Amino acid sequence: MTLVITSTCVDVKDGICTTSCPVDCIYEGGRMYYIHPTECIECGMCESICPVDAIRYDDEVEEETEIPFIALNDAAFRDADGSIIEPGGWKKGDPPVSDPPQLETLFPKKDEVA
Ligand code: F3S
Repeated sequence: MTLVITSTCVDVKDGICTTSCPVDCIYEGGRMYYIHPTECIECGMCESICPVDAIRYDDEVEEETEIPFIALNDAAFRDADGSIIEPGGWKKGDPPVSDPPQLETLFPKKDEVA
């Protein structure tokens, strides 16, 4: 079990959640933030602080449209071989992690919606 960031973070990126994480396992991406699946210690400190209620324990994600975000958080930290990348913590100013390509399918940018 871990915590994950879901769709309401996309293109919002408030970022306040990062200030609550004792192990800095919340990483900035291009369109959203991601929680690292193995660096997260499941303390839940970030869950209530998000102003758009984007953070959940993965086993509490029930909405069909949100379930793919569990794999998306994980995919943000996989290399081309599928191995997990463990950067060891994120801090403001670090370069963003790449958004997994699935994000565009799940949540097309508004200006790209036909
Ligand atoms: Fe996103 Fe909420 Fe954090 S909008 S960056 S999950 S505070």
